[in-house]
Amino acid sequence: MPKPRVFVTRAILPEGLKLISDFCEMDLWPGDLPPQRADLLKHVPGVEGILSLLTDRLDGEILDAAGAGLKVISNYAVGYDNIDVALASARKIAVGNTPGVLTDATADFAFSLLLAAARRVVEADRQVRSGQWKTWGPSILLGTSLYGTTLGLVGFGRIGQAMAKRASGFEMRVLYYDPSLPDDFSWGTAKRVDFETLLRESDFVSLHTPLTAETYHLINQHAFSLMKTDAILVNTARGPVVDSQALYRALKDKRIFAAALDVTEPEPLPVDSPLLSLENLIIAPHIASGNQVTRRKMSIMAAENLIAGLKGEPLPNCVNPQIYE
Ligand code: DGY
Repeated sequence: MPKPRVFVTRAILPEGLKLISDFCEMDLWPGDLPPQRADLLKHVPGVEGILSLLTDRLDGEILDAAGAGLKVISNYAVGYDNIDVALASARKIAVGNTPGVLTDATADFAFSLLLAAARRVVEADRQVRSGQWKTWGPSILLGTSLYGTTLGLVGFGRIGQAMAKRASGFEMRVLYYDPSLPDDFSWGTAKRVDFETLLRESDFVSLHTPLTAETYHLINQHAFSLMKTDAILVNTARGPVVDSQALYRALKDKRIFAAALDVTEPEPLPVDSPLLSLENLIIAPHIASGNQVTRRKMSIMAAENLIAGLKGEPLPNCVNPQIYE
Protein backbone atom coordinates (compact mmCIF):
# COMPACT_ATOMS: atom_id res chain seq x y z
CA MET A 1 0.00 0.00 0.00
CA PRO A 2 1.62 3.32 -1.03
CA LYS A 3 2.21 5.84 1.72
CA PRO A 4 0.20 9.08 1.54
CA ARG A 5 2.10 11.98 -0.01
CA VAL A 6 2.49 15.13 2.05
CA PHE A 7 4.29 18.44 1.68
CA VAL A 8 6.00 19.82 4.78
CA THR A 9 6.80 23.48 4.19
CA ARG A 10 9.82 23.71 6.56
CA ALA A 11 11.78 21.43 8.85
CA ILE A 12 10.01 21.27 12.21
CA LEU A 13 11.74 19.64 15.20
CA PRO A 14 12.90 16.05 14.60
CA GLU A 15 10.33 14.32 16.84
CA GLY A 16 7.49 15.47 14.58
CA LEU A 17 9.39 14.90 11.36
CA LYS A 18 10.12 11.30 12.37
CA LEU A 19 6.42 10.58 12.95
CA ILE A 20 5.59 12.05 9.56
CA SER A 21 8.34 10.32 7.59
CA ASP A 22 7.46 6.95 9.18
CA PHE A 23 3.85 7.22 8.03
CA CYS A 24 4.08 9.28 4.83
CA GLU A 25 5.98 9.90 1.69
CA MET A 26 7.28 13.25 2.86
CA ASP A 27 8.34 16.08 0.58
CA LEU A 28 10.21 18.37 2.97
CA TRP A 29 11.02 21.92 1.85
CA PRO A 30 14.80 22.13 2.29
CA GLY A 31 15.22 25.89 2.78
CA ASP A 32 15.52 27.91 5.98
CA LEU A 33 13.27 30.51 4.36
CA PRO A 34 9.63 29.72 3.52
CA PRO A 35 8.81 28.36 0.08
CA GLN A 36 7.84 31.15 -2.30
CA ARG A 37 4.37 31.16 -3.77
CA ALA A 38 5.63 29.50 -6.97
CA ASP A 39 7.32 26.79 -4.89
CA LEU A 40 4.13 26.07 -2.97
CA LEU A 41 2.21 25.83 -6.23
CA LYS A 42 4.80 23.41 -7.56
CA HIS A 43 4.95 21.16 -4.48
CA VAL A 44 1.29 20.74 -3.50
CA PRO A 45 -0.33 19.12 -6.56
CA GLY A 46 -1.51 15.63 -5.67
CA VAL A 47 -0.66 15.72 -1.96
CA GLU A 48 -3.08 14.38 0.66
CA GLY A 49 -1.69 16.53 3.44
CA ILE A 50 0.17 19.78 3.99
CA LEU A 51 2.08 20.64 7.14
CA SER A 52 2.25 24.42 7.03
CA LEU A 53 3.82 27.22 9.04
CA LEU A 54 2.28 30.60 9.77
CA THR A 55 4.48 32.02 7.00
CA ASP A 56 2.62 30.03 4.30
CA ARG A 57 -0.54 31.60 2.89
CA LEU A 58 -2.85 28.72 2.04
CA ASP A 59 -5.68 30.25 0.03
CA GLY A 60 -7.96 29.11 -2.77
CA GLU A 61 -5.19 29.10 -5.36
CA ILE A 62 -3.07 26.72 -3.28
CA LEU A 63 -6.03 24.49 -2.38
CA ASP A 64 -6.98 24.34 -6.08
CA ALA A 65 -3.42 23.45 -6.98
CA ALA A 66 -3.37 20.69 -4.36
CA GLY A 67 -6.49 19.17 -5.89
CA ALA A 68 -9.38 17.06 -4.68
CA GLY A 69 -7.17 14.54 -2.85
CA LEU A 70 -6.14 17.06 -0.14
CA LYS A 71 -7.55 15.79 3.17
CA VAL A 72 -5.72 17.73 5.85
CA ILE A 73 -3.78 20.90 6.56
CA SER A 74 -1.86 20.83 9.82
CA ASN A 75 -0.61 24.25 10.88
CA TYR A 76 2.46 24.38 13.12
CA ALA A 77 0.97 27.23 15.21
CA VAL A 78 -2.02 27.95 17.38
CA GLY A 79 -3.00 30.83 15.08
CA TYR A 80 -4.36 29.90 11.66
CA ASP A 81 -5.10 33.23 9.97
CA ASN A 82 -2.74 32.16 7.16
CA ILE A 83 -5.27 29.54 6.02
CA ASP A 84 -8.60 30.04 4.27
CA VAL A 85 -10.42 27.86 6.80
CA ALA A 86 -13.88 28.66 5.39
CA LEU A 87 -12.85 27.32 2.00
CA ALA A 88 -11.08 24.31 3.51
CA SER A 89 -14.25 23.51 5.50
CA ALA A 90 -16.43 23.84 2.39
CA ARG A 91 -14.16 21.24 0.77
CA LYS A 92 -14.17 19.01 3.90
CA ILE A 93 -10.45 19.51 4.39
CA ALA A 94 -9.57 19.20 8.09
CA VAL A 95 -7.43 22.00 9.52
CA GLY A 96 -5.35 21.40 12.64
CA ASN A 97 -3.43 23.70 14.99
CA THR A 98 -1.28 23.43 18.14
CA PRO A 99 -3.14 25.00 21.09
CA GLY A 100 -2.29 24.55 24.77
CA VAL A 101 1.33 23.45 24.53
CA LEU A 102 2.55 26.97 23.81
CA THR A 103 0.40 28.83 26.35
CA ASP A 104 3.04 29.19 29.06
CA ALA A 105 5.93 29.83 26.70
CA THR A 106 3.96 32.63 25.04
CA ALA A 107 2.80 34.16 28.32
CA ASP A 108 6.36 33.98 29.70
CA PHE A 109 7.63 35.88 26.70
CA ALA A 110 4.81 38.43 26.72
CA PHE A 111 5.51 39.08 30.39
CA SER A 112 9.22 39.43 29.75
CA LEU A 113 8.51 41.97 27.00
CA LEU A 114 6.26 43.83 29.42
CA LEU A 115 9.00 43.99 32.07
CA ALA A 116 11.69 44.83 29.53
CA ALA A 117 9.64 47.73 28.12
CA ALA A 118 8.72 49.04 31.58
CA ARG A 119 12.35 49.04 32.74
CA ARG A 120 13.89 49.94 29.37
CA VAL A 121 16.17 46.90 29.42
CA VAL A 122 16.99 46.82 25.70
CA GLU A 123 17.66 50.54 25.50
CA ALA A 124 19.90 50.25 28.56
CA ASP A 125 21.89 47.44 26.99
CA ARG A 126 22.32 49.52 23.83
CA GLN A 127 23.60 52.48 25.85
CA VAL A 128 26.17 50.37 27.67
CA ARG A 129 27.46 48.70 24.50
CA SER A 130 27.73 51.97 22.58
CA GLY A 131 29.69 53.69 25.33
CA GLN A 132 26.87 56.20 25.80
CA TRP A 133 26.62 55.29 29.49
CA LYS A 134 29.20 57.28 31.47
CA THR A 135 28.27 56.89 35.12
CA TRP A 136 25.49 56.06 37.56
CA GLY A 137 22.94 58.89 37.66
CA PRO A 138 19.69 59.64 39.52
CA SER A 139 17.61 60.11 36.39
CA ILE A 140 19.18 57.76 33.88
CA LEU A 141 16.76 55.49 31.98
CA LEU A 142 13.87 55.85 34.38
CA GLY A 143 11.14 53.38 33.63
CA THR A 144 7.60 52.77 34.81
CA SER A 145 6.65 50.58 37.75
CA LEU A 146 4.76 47.33 37.54
CA TYR A 147 3.85 46.41 41.07
CA GLY A 148 0.23 47.23 41.89
CA THR A 149 -0.56 48.66 38.45
CA THR A 150 -3.32 47.60 36.03
CA LEU A 151 -2.88 45.05 33.26
CA GLY A 152 -5.44 45.10 30.44
CA LEU A 153 -5.72 41.89 28.43
CA VAL A 154 -7.29 42.07 25.00
CA GLY A 155 -8.34 38.47 24.43
CA PHE A 156 -8.82 36.30 27.49
CA GLY A 157 -8.35 32.75 26.25
CA ARG A 158 -5.63 30.38 27.45
CA ILE A 159 -2.72 32.81 26.96
CA GLY A 160 -4.59 35.82 28.37
CA GLN A 161 -5.45 33.79 31.47
CA ALA A 162 -1.81 32.67 31.82
CA MET A 163 -0.87 36.37 31.77
CA ALA A 164 -3.37 37.07 34.54
CA LYS A 165 -1.75 34.35 36.68
CA ARG A 166 1.67 35.92 36.21
CA ALA A 167 0.27 39.40 36.96
CA SER A 168 -1.04 38.22 40.32
CA GLY A 169 2.58 37.81 41.48
CA PHE A 170 3.00 41.56 40.96
CA GLU A 171 -0.32 42.28 42.66
CA MET A 172 -1.61 43.81 39.45
CA ARG A 173 -5.26 44.52 38.91
CA VAL A 174 -6.37 42.62 35.82
CA LEU A 175 -8.94 43.83 33.30
CA TYR A 176 -9.92 41.89 30.21
CA TYR A 177 -11.90 42.44 27.05
CA ASP A 178 -13.04 39.43 25.07
CA PRO A 179 -16.35 39.50 23.19
CA SER A 180 -16.06 35.78 22.37
CA LEU A 181 -16.61 34.72 25.99
CA PRO A 182 -20.07 33.74 27.25
CA ASP A 183 -21.97 36.36 29.28
CA ASP A 184 -21.71 34.34 32.50
CA PHE A 185 -17.92 33.87 32.20
CA SER A 186 -15.86 34.86 35.22
CA TRP A 187 -12.25 34.26 36.19
CA GLY A 188 -10.85 34.91 39.66
CA THR A 189 -10.59 38.58 40.51
CA ALA A 190 -10.02 39.64 36.89
CA LYS A 191 -12.65 42.12 35.78
CA ARG A 192 -14.43 42.05 32.44
CA VAL A 193 -14.73 45.50 30.87
CA ASP A 194 -15.53 47.04 27.51
CA PHE A 195 -12.69 47.84 25.13
CA GLU A 196 -12.57 51.59 25.77
CA THR A 197 -12.57 51.16 29.56
CA LEU A 198 -9.69 48.72 29.25
CA LEU A 199 -7.68 51.21 27.20
CA ARG A 200 -8.45 54.11 29.55
CA GLU A 201 -7.67 52.29 32.79
CA SER A 202 -4.72 50.03 31.93
CA ASP A 203 -1.06 50.77 32.58
CA PHE A 204 -0.15 47.82 30.37
CA VAL A 205 -2.22 46.61 27.43
CA SER A 206 -1.28 43.13 26.21
CA LEU A 207 -2.83 41.60 23.09
CA HIS A 208 -3.87 37.93 23.01
CA THR A 209 -6.53 37.86 20.35
CA PRO A 210 -6.54 36.00 17.05
CA LEU A 211 -6.29 38.05 13.86
CA THR A 212 -9.74 38.27 12.28
CA ALA A 213 -11.63 40.87 10.24
CA GLU A 214 -12.84 42.31 13.59
CA THR A 215 -9.40 42.56 15.21
CA TYR A 216 -7.52 43.91 12.17
CA HIS A 217 -6.04 47.29 13.27
CA LEU A 218 -8.03 47.10 16.50
CA ILE A 219 -5.25 49.13 18.09
CA ASN A 220 -5.43 52.24 15.92
CA GLN A 221 -5.10 55.99 16.36
CA HIS A 222 -8.36 56.17 18.30
CA ALA A 223 -7.23 53.39 20.64
CA PHE A 224 -3.92 55.15 21.31
CA SER A 225 -5.77 58.39 22.02
CA LEU A 226 -7.62 56.63 24.86
CA MET A 227 -4.56 55.05 26.46
CA LYS A 228 -2.69 56.57 29.40
CA THR A 229 0.39 58.58 28.44
CA ASP A 230 2.60 56.26 30.48
CA ALA A 231 0.95 53.10 29.13
CA ILE A 232 2.88 50.26 27.53
CA LEU A 233 1.55 48.12 24.67
CA VAL A 234 2.66 44.50 24.27
CA ASN A 235 1.77 42.48 21.18
CA THR A 236 2.50 38.75 21.00
CA ALA A 237 -0.67 37.99 18.98
CA ARG A 238 -0.46 38.97 15.31
CA GLY A 239 1.14 42.08 13.78
CA PRO A 240 -1.90 43.41 11.90
CA VAL A 241 -3.91 43.71 15.14
CA VAL A 242 -1.94 46.96 15.55
CA ASP A 243 -1.97 49.75 12.97
CA SER A 244 1.80 50.29 12.53
CA GLN A 245 1.50 53.90 11.40
CA ALA A 246 -0.64 54.81 14.38
CA LEU A 247 1.83 53.01 16.63
CA TYR A 248 4.72 54.96 15.14
CA ARG A 249 2.95 58.28 15.81
CA ALA A 250 1.91 57.27 19.33
CA LEU A 251 5.49 56.32 20.25
CA LYS A 252 7.17 59.20 18.44
CA ASP A 253 4.84 61.81 19.98
CA LYS A 254 5.13 60.09 23.40
CA ARG A 255 1.37 59.54 23.34
CA ILE A 256 2.22 56.31 25.16
CA PHE A 257 5.40 55.41 27.07
CA ALA A 258 6.60 52.38 25.09
CA ALA A 259 5.66 49.27 23.17
CA ALA A 260 7.11 45.78 22.86
CA LEU A 261 6.24 43.61 19.89
CA ASP A 262 6.92 40.00 19.08
CA VAL A 263 4.86 40.32 15.91
CA THR A 264 4.76 43.04 13.27
CA GLU A 265 3.10 43.91 10.00
CA PRO A 266 4.88 42.81 7.83
CA GLU A 267 7.33 40.27 9.22
CA PRO A 268 10.13 41.10 9.16
CA LEU A 269 9.82 44.88 9.05
CA PRO A 270 11.85 46.44 6.23
CA VAL A 271 15.19 47.67 7.61
CA ASP A 272 14.24 51.25 6.74
CA SER A 273 10.93 51.05 8.66
CA PRO A 274 10.54 54.23 10.77
CA LEU A 275 9.52 51.97 13.68
CA LEU A 276 13.10 50.72 13.91
CA SER A 277 14.32 54.26 14.68
CA LEU A 278 12.34 54.47 17.92
CA GLU A 279 14.11 54.02 21.26
CA ASN A 280 10.87 53.32 23.10
CA LEU A 281 10.03 50.24 21.04
CA ILE A 282 11.30 46.68 21.51
CA ILE A 283 10.87 44.27 18.61
CA ALA A 284 11.47 40.54 18.77
CA PRO A 285 11.37 38.19 15.76
CA HIS A 286 8.12 36.29 16.51
CA ILE A 287 9.67 33.93 19.07
CA ALA A 288 7.13 33.94 21.91
CA SER A 289 6.48 30.18 21.69
CA GLY A 290 10.17 29.52 21.13
CA ASN A 291 11.52 27.35 23.88
CA GLN A 292 12.85 23.89 23.10
CA VAL A 293 10.27 21.89 25.04
CA THR A 294 7.35 23.80 23.52
CA ARG A 295 8.56 23.63 19.94
CA ARG A 296 9.15 19.88 20.38
CA LYS A 297 5.59 19.40 21.67
CA MET A 298 4.27 21.53 18.81
CA SER A 299 6.08 19.33 16.30
CA ILE A 300 4.51 16.16 17.73
CA MET A 301 1.06 17.74 17.90
CA ALA A 302 1.27 18.98 14.32
CA ALA A 303 2.46 15.57 13.12
CA GLU A 304 -0.36 13.82 15.00
CA ASN A 305 -2.94 16.14 13.45
CA LEU A 306 -1.53 15.48 10.00
CA ILE A 307 -1.48 11.71 10.41
CA ALA A 308 -5.00 11.58 11.88
CA GLY A 309 -6.29 13.56 8.90
CA LEU A 310 -4.57 11.24 6.45
CA LYS A 311 -6.15 8.24 8.19
CA GLY A 312 -9.56 9.90 7.91
CA GLU A 313 -9.78 10.21 11.71
CA PRO A 314 -10.85 13.37 13.58
CA LEU A 315 -7.82 15.56 14.28
CA PRO A 316 -6.83 15.68 17.97
CA ASN A 317 -6.76 19.50 17.58
CA CYS A 318 -9.09 20.59 14.84
CA VAL A 319 -10.14 24.18 14.10
CA ASN A 320 -13.03 23.18 11.83
CA PRO A 321 -14.68 20.18 13.58
CA GLN A 322 -17.96 21.03 11.84
CA ILE A 323 -16.67 19.13 8.79
CA TYR A 324 -17.31 15.90 10.71
CA GLU A 325 -20.99 16.67 11.32
C1 DGY B 1 1.34 30.65 16.99
O1 DGY B 1 1.42 29.47 17.36
O2 DGY B 1 0.31 31.11 16.48
C2 DGY B 1 2.52 31.52 17.24
O3 DGY B 1 2.43 32.75 16.66
C3 DGY B 1 3.83 30.83 16.85
O4 DGY B 1 4.04 29.77 17.70
